[in-house]
Amino acid sequence: MRSKLVVGNWKMHGGTVQNRDLLNAVIAGTEGMNGTSLAVCVPYPYLSQAQSILQATHVRWGAQNVSQYDKGAYTGEVSAAMLMDFGCRYVIVGHSERRALYGEDSHTVALKFRAAQSVGLTPVLCVGETLDQREAAITEQVVAEQLDAIIELVGIDALAKSVLAYEPVWAIGTGKTATPEQAQEVHAFIRGRIAANNSEVATGLQILYGGSAKANNAAELFAMPDIDGGLIGGASLVADEFIAICDAAKN
Ligand code: PGA
Repeated sequence: MRSKLVVGNWKMHGGTVQNRDLLNAVIAGTEGMNGTSLAVCVPYPYLSQAQSILQATHVRWGAQNVSQYDKGAYTGEVSAAMLMDFGCRYVIVGHSERRALYGEDSHTVALKFRAAQSVGLTPVLCVGETLDQREAAITEQVVAEQLDAIIELVGIDALAKSVLAYEPVWAIGTGKTATPEQAQEVHAFIRGRIAANNSEVATGLQILYGGSAKANNAAELFAMPDIDGGLIGGASLVADEFIAICDAAKN
């Protein structure tokens, strides 16, 4: 049986004072949630703060992006080894905002995935279709291409040490959540595609849902057989919302 995982994606939000209050509230509000893992992916400058507040707690932390390169003349970039230096467990790769706004293609995402794993970080790989793609009925094709680029570079077995997140682009930050059935359909497709290569990896893989997940819809999403938790944007910035989502993942 796969355990549940809830990951907060703060995006470009935060400040030292509000972070401290939010993290302390999340720690207190999620204590004793046995069986469910929690993490927050914070902006780079706050990794040190996250580490010092979270290190002795049950809440893990990570980053939202990583360089595909190890080190060198890459002004403004942050390497996977640097994230490890701050105790990160996770790093999001291939978020649709990075794909759309920063031109990251699936091959670059695959290089980032590999860079993360090379130092022991767990990549949280995001895949998902736009509204146009859904309406053109090519969701499965889009998701398959995003996934295959990773498998081609690192091999199917490497997925065992990763987390996937299905995030329909039309649902991100829009308040339009995929229905549990819509999400389940794509999650099952992803798991099935992986199972065709390696059923053991497919069975063990945590596949999160992301896209306007909230306290009032999390339980029904997490009840679906192939949804193993959530990648939570906006709602991860509000302590009570995030705690309620974590609580929904508990059962
Ligand atoms: P949202 O974002 O929960 O605000 O829709 C999710 C994400 O982008 O990871």
